[in-house]
Amino acid sequence: TVYPDKLTASKTVAKRIADIIIRKAAKGENAVLGLATGVTPIGVYAELVRLHKEDGLSFKNVITFNLDEYFPMLPSSSQSYDAFMKEHLFNHIDIDLTNVHIPDGTLKQEEVAAFCLAYEQKITALGGLDLQILGIGRTGHIGFNEPGSAPNSGTRLVSLDDLTRSDAAHDFGAKSKVPTKAITMGIGTIFKAREIILMAWSAKKAPILKKAVEGDLSADVPATYLQLSDHVEFIVDKEAASEL
Ligand code: GLP
Repeated sequence: TVYPDKLTASKTVAKRIADIIIRKAAKGENAVLGLATGVTPIGVYAELVRLHKEDGLSFKNVITFNLDEYFPMLPSSSQSYDAFMKEHLFNHIDIDLTNVHIPDGTLKQEEVAAFCLAYEQKITALGGLDLQILGIGRTGHIGFNEPGSAPNSGTRLVSLDDLTRSDAAHDFGAKSKVPTKAITMGIGTIFKAREIILMAWSAKKAPILKKAVEGDLSADVPATYLQLSDHVEFIVDKEAASEL
């Protein structure tokens, strides 16, 4: 779906999220949400904060799982996705922080596999993700599933692509300071969500969006695997759609 601008599109995505939260709350159930970081979802989170402050939207019944985190990474570091989520969403809403899950960048390497398995098991035990929101990296990654990722991949430790590290350089001051690894939900994990929304804004994303939507299925562009899903929607602005 192509929207005239990212503000309108972001408000639409926030409304979809709010509708799930409200529908679940009415049944006395939790909403289990898969969240993303990066510049792309910032407008969605701003609208959710507005809905909380102005319209009384409560997040008391919300359980969240973030897609990914750099590895190694301290939550207290300003570049952590933990800090990002607090700054843009969690610090401004009434969510119970024990309901928030973000991959742990402080683990020892030998602890990562068990952590990743437990992350998957927690999502399953809660009945699965009601909605997963996604951005897209210029390598075609979703989460941090870089080129080469398998369609049935689970949560795991991955190596970051060179282009991804270049794109993150401004957050870290220099590319050499960007971690070389991350923990990410897998493509298989994302696929299990009952609904998936991928967002892309600006002309910068137009070439990769064209590949993701119209290109052949390929591990070289992991987002092409979303073509196999019957419950995914791409919500984009005019500029990102300009090459479709
Ligand atoms: C990072 C995140 C992805 C995100 C991508 C695009 O690599 N791990 O989840 O989709 O960046 O970022 P942005 O939204 O800033 O363009």
